[in-house]
Amino acid sequence: MSQKIIPVHSDDKHTHEHAGGRACMSRRQWLLSGGSSLLMVSLGGLPGLADAAQALKATYPRQKIGNLSALKEGVPVDFNYPYPDVRNILVKLGVPAGAGVGVSKDIVAFNQQCTHMGGPLDGTYKPQHQVLGPCPLHLTTFDLTHHGMVASGHATESLPQIVLEVKGDDIYAVGVMGLVYGYNAMTAERSA
Ligand code: FES
Repeated sequence: MSQKIIPVHSDDKHTHEHAGGRACMSRRQWLLSGGSSLLMVSLGGLPGLADAAQALKATYPRQKIGNLSALKEGVPVDFNYPYPDVRNILVKLGVPAGAGVGVSKDIVAFNQQCTHMGGPLDGTYKPQHQVLGPCPLHLTTFDLTHHGMVASGHATESLPQIVLEVKGDDIYAVGVMGLVYGYNAMTAERSA
């Protein structure tokens, strides 16, 4: 099947202009903006990143995981959901993000197990770039502003994103978009 990649990014925050009005984007900005900057075109058509994530969305009993008033920008909070062995972070990125909640749509939550081979991403959040990683095993880095998509490295799957809801000052986890490493479905049973 023939396939081509067309850059279509138009987000001002990822560009600047040289004298003469020519817009420019750094390599890092290009990599980190991939979710909105690349349009995958094929003969059969491909679903968008958000659509694909939504297709794998599973709902679970609501669990309170934090308070808006207690969250500090750039400082992740650990929590386990939907099972005791599934480690995640809740973080206020400081910039709007896909599926972000809160007034600025910048509060997100993600699983901390690398989708490549399950490497531990705990403690690897980089607030200056809003990424999780690099993974200590093979260096994959995930962009938390774009549904946890791979910014660089070996993994091919986005990081599972925890679906959030806000009620008053309370933040709740209510579901998971994507498969946590080690599960072949988001049931309580791990795959062998
Ligand atoms: S396990 Fe994380 S990059 Fe391989």
